[in-house]
Amino acid sequence: MKKRNCFIGQSGGPTVAINASLAGIIHECIKSQKFDHVYGMVNGIMGLLESRYMDLGELFNDSQALEQLKHSPAMYLGSCRYKLPNYQDDPQTYEILFHTFEQLHITDFYYIGGNDSMDTVAKLSAYAKSIHSPICFIGIPKTIDNDTWGTDMTFGFHSAVEVATDTIDRIHTTATSHNRVFIIEIMGHKVGWVTLHAGIAGGADIILLPEIPYDMDVIAEAIDKRAKSGKKFTIIAVAEGAISKEDAKLSKKELKDKQAKKKYPSVAYEMAEKVQKRTQQEVRIAIPGHTQRGGSPCPFDRVLSTRLGAEAARAILDENYGCMMSVKNDKIVRVPLSEVAGKLKYVDPKSEIIRQAKITGISFGDE
Ligand code: F6P
Repeated sequence: MKKRNCFIGQSGGPTVAINASLAGIIHECIKSQKFDHVYGMVNGIMGLLESRYMDLGELFNDSQALEQLKHSPAMYLGSCRYKLPNYQDDPQTYEILFHTFEQLHITDFYYIGGNDSMDTVAKLSAYAKSIHSPICFIGIPKTIDNDTWGTDMTFGFHSAVEVATDTIDRIHTTATSHNRVFIIEIMGHKVGWVTLHAGIAGGADIILLPEIPYDMDVIAEAIDKRAKSGKKFTIIAVAEGAISKEDAKLSKKELKDKQAKKKYPSVAYEMAEKVQKRTQQEVRIAIPGHTQRGGSPCPFDRVLSTRLGAEAARAILDENYGCMMSVKNDKIVRVPLSEVAGKLKYVDPKSEIIRQAKITGISFGDE
């Protein structure tokens, strides 16, 4: 029976444990003995478009090497930030990619990445179907943002929450010495899952999310109320993409123009200036930044990444493709890529976790 050949790529913002999923796929492909070649794209689709790839079957032909890969930091294959255009807008890019697939007799394509990467796989899978190409496409979701539609969790999220929570914990220890407001800016431009979980876990007094536009009057009132009740500090956990009620009413273009004119390097500095003006309190800023995507992965992420990688290879062998590997109620399931493409999983302002956080006294700057 004709052997298969596959491409594996990594893309988007790295998360910890990212290589465990890569190792899982390589291991399952080699163990199945159904693959002639397991190729790795260097820097994702961008590298593939420049014919940059490596033969992973040769590099990882022993379990020791795979074990080391599993625990190696950063993305072994390198990454890219690239969203594949629609076929109608750029047919040449599709033709270059499918020409490479044809030259190497590719039968399977795995892509490990965030939303833009899942969108890319969905487009390639739809195009393959439209030209009756037999190539199988599988997406493996990974992003610290945990904003991928169709899966309960993405690996990297829990580890990022741990880093952000540790930052808030450490700020707590210094905050008790001063009558200050501390602003901690946490990753999440479009979606606030990391900020929400770290804010609750770290005991933030105010949590500001992109999904819940804030009212500066409400924030100032919450800070003044704490000061008047004798509290020595206030901690605000603010997502990178937190937005005021006024700005939330602007059109995309108006907001983009307004943000381009802002003098602040990021949302924490804007919030600091607003708080100082409204409360006359001293304000300090802490930004864990990209440390939220590094370090040693927490056990939960290592297990999830390994499980997704292993199941991805099995999906191909079952010839069940055109799907994204997802976790739902702790089961690894396959969700059609067509259902996932272009969607984000937002924090629901009316969800019970928000209601429960408010009951404990946390303000979201909205009421
Ligand atoms: O998408 C993951 C993420 O870490 C976001 O949370 C963050 O806003 C963004 O990537 C940062 O992107 P970059 O690493 O390109 O600065």
